[in-house]
Amino acid sequence: MRIPLIAGNWKMNKSVDDARSFMQIVSDQLPEPDQVETAIAAPAILLETMIEANGADRLRIGAENCYYEDAGAFTGETSPQALDQMGIPYVIVGHSERRSYFNETDDIINRKVHAVYRNHMTPILCCDETMGRLEAGEKIHWVVSQVTGALKDITDAQARQLVIAYEPSWAIGSGKSASADQAEEGCYLIRQTVADLYGDDVANQMRVLYGGSVNPENISQIMAKQNIDGVLAGGASLDPETFLQLVHYQK
Ligand code: PGA
Repeated sequence: MRIPLIAGNWKMNKSVDDARSFMQIVSDQLPEPDQVETAIAAPAILLETMIEANGADRLRIGAENCYYEDAGAFTGETSPQALDQMGIPYVIVGHSERRSYFNETDDIINRKVHAVYRNHMTPILCCDETMGRLEAGEKIHWVVSQVTGALKDITDAQARQLVIAYEPSWAIGSGKSASADQAEEGCYLIRQTVADLYGDDVANQMRVLYGGSVNPENISQIMAKQNIDGVLAGGASLDPETFLQLVHYQK
């Protein structure tokens, strides 16, 4: 059984004080982790504060990015080894903002996926999709190339634990979510791509999330879809009460 994962992505939006007060509000109101797993990916600078404030320990605290080397002369980068030492379980890799503003290619993303696994963490691998590609009917090529590129030389055992997020960039931060059917189609295509690479057994264990303008009003319809195992929410994860509405969505 795939346990639903409701994850937030704070991006670069919060101060240390904001992070602490968010944790104080949500930490004892979260669901049982074997029913619904909950996570927030936050900037590296906030992780220590969040871990300290994670009273009931139900929220999984993730990172938004890391470098692909474990350590060395890479000024300003975040070490995956240090994240692991902090007890971080998840790292977002390949978010569309990283791909477009920081020029991350499939090769860089593949190296980061390896670095996350090498350091005993799980990547939340984001796959982007533009409206242009959607209108041109190129979806299948896009899914195959992004997923295949990111998973080069990843083993079956690693792929089994993977979380992939289907995040059309036209839906990110736009207030215009994909419909539940569009989200399901994207997540289905991702699962099929993983099935072609690793077989049905692995594809059926791996979790696929939808991300892009998820909010308390649309989450239930999205979560009702067969191939959608959770969401990655940006804007709606910032306010603690709204995040609590997401994690307690109506089944
Ligand atoms: P959004 O962001 O929910 O604000 O659209 C999602 C994301 O970027 O992961």
